[in-house]
Amino acid sequence: MNTNDNQAGQAVVPANTTAKEGDVAAGTKKEGWFYTDVVKEHFFSPKNFLDQESSADHPYKGMVGSPACGDAMKVWLKIEKDADGIDRITDFKWKTFGCASAIASTSMLSVMVTENGGLAVDDALKLRPQDIMMRLGGLPARKVHCSVLGDKALRAAINDYFRKSGQVEKIIIEQGRMIDKVLKITDHDIEEAVLEGADTLEKLQQKTKVGTGDPSCIPEVEQLLRFYKDKYFG
Ligand code: FES
Repeated sequence: MNTNDNQAGQAVVPANTTAKEGDVAAGTKKEGWFYTDVVKEHFFSPKNFLDQESSADHPYKGMVGSPACGDAMKVWLKIEKDADGIDRITDFKWKTFGCASAIASTSMLSVMVTENGGLAVDDALKLRPQDIMMRLGGLPARKVHCSVLGDKALRAAINDYFRKSGQVEKIIIEQGRMIDKVLKITDHDIEEAVLEGADTLEKLQQKTKVGTGDPSCIPEVEQLLRFYKDKYFG
């Protein structure tokens, strides 16, 4: 057992872990290439990694790909009712074609979801990529989209649970909303561009050309830019 694991094999995040200069601590945004000790711990010793093709013990599955880099993530969940009848995520397995940041952030996410008897499904839906980054002590800005991968796969697996347990009214499908009707750019395209580092309208337009054919959408684009910057970078 790794010295940073507890008896349940879950990661213990050192209380004194702090981001080094150049890291992106949640709530700040600095460019850098450094990884915190917590990120390295979860990358070199990933928790809850599924070392087989699939698992019959974990019936609820979610798979997503990253538009930002083309990598993929699969998540398998076990969900059980507790003594009070609350649906809790009691196990979270995963595997990925993603990078070190995707491995570390999904490993941490798997710990956060299953610790203390497992999160209630409704509470797991409230988790944000920022919460994962907070526990990791930050990620380099260009790697924030990697932490979104595990979060989206978790939501897809919870949708699978809702579907298989007859709670279809709870399924949340994130549909793209057309923002620039001339260039056919959706709010998801803007979200991905922000995750890839576009933090000003100018950078957003360099990446997507949004608003260059239909300037009337610019106020809404600026609103989305503020929304996604706040959502992912605080
Ligand atoms: S998951 Fe693709 S670069 Fe991190």
